Amino acid sequence: MTIQWYPGHMHKAQKEIKQALPDIDLIIEVVDARIPYSSANPVIADLAENKGISKPIIKLMNKTDLADPARTAQWCEYLEKQQGVKALPVTAQSPEQVKKVIGLCRRLAPQRTTKELPVRAMIMGIPNVGKSTIINILSQKTIAKVGNEPAVTQRQQRIDLKEGVILFDTPGILWPKIDNTHSSYRLAISGAIKDTALDYEDVAFYAIEYLLKNYQSLLAEHFKLDEHELASYQSESWMALELIGRLRGCLKAGGRIDMDKVCKILIHEYRAGNIGKITLESPAMIEKELIEVAEM
Ligand code: G4P
Repeated sequence: MTIQWYPGHMHKAQKEIKQALPDIDLIIEVVDARIPYSSANPVIADLAENKGISKPIIKLMNKTDLADPARTAQWCEYLEKQQGVKALPVTAQSPEQVKKVIGLCRRLAPQRTTKELPVRAMIMGIPNVGKSTIINILSQKTIAKVGNEPAVTQRQQRIDLKEGVILFDTPGILWPKIDNTHSSYRLAISGAIKDTALDYEDVAFYAIEYLLKNYQSLLAEHFKLDEHELASYQSESWMALELIGRLRGCLKAGGRIDMDKVCKILIHEYRAGNIGKITLESPAMIEKELIEVAEM
């Protein structure tokens, strides 16, 4: 699967972020808890790796209502231990949970918690991780436009949370890190990549293979399939798609399975969380894949 990706945009975003960095106290990076690595922002990853950031980073693991709780816990531990960031699992379905980030910001920047000296937090995230939703929850719709802080560019949005924290929303689009094929598939399955850029069959084949290996019971339960029969399709996952197609009546003239329709059903029902709480990557998987990429 090929995905359009523009290095020029990344360069521009990196420049803008670097310019704003000296005058912010910390970064809040919103990621999708189902794909914490693949939905991470490459600009932040790059800057952090090259020690370009000495500010605290909060990884807001959003959409935990859709993610596997065991994997979310694994990810939080991994991110805190391996990357030295603060990981906060949240879901927009629980505004109280989201608002915990305000207290965390204040704890991470204790030098700036007075009304006159609020914590300046830059919030960012690739499209569709839920950044706008989070901002709306935090601001309770009291969004103020364009601040006069010296360091922020005109296009940056300044949102006073009125609790000793000011959010600076990064302008422009931050693209996901697509340094390996697995990440592009995961971004596609989760809905971070627009459907028009997708080959549904390709993406659904990747998804069914992963689900059969990692979440077979949930798959069986949701589609009312026999788990033993499903287990026998591990190496021929397309047969599982055919089975789902037959059960859901996705048939073309002549009784052939309408694969396009089945693939759309699988992806849409995954995204809606109907199949269950499913995470698409684990720290161990990512470490293995990174070694494979480095050896290529
Ligand atoms: P962005 O600014 O990062 O691009 O994302 P945005 O807030 O627009 O959210 C993208 C989609 O994700 C929205 O759904 C939003 O409702 C959904 N979303 C955000 N946070 C959560 C969460 O914690 N859990 C779940 N399940 N969904 C979340 P949409 O289908 O694009 O729009 P709509 O259905 O809200 O109209």
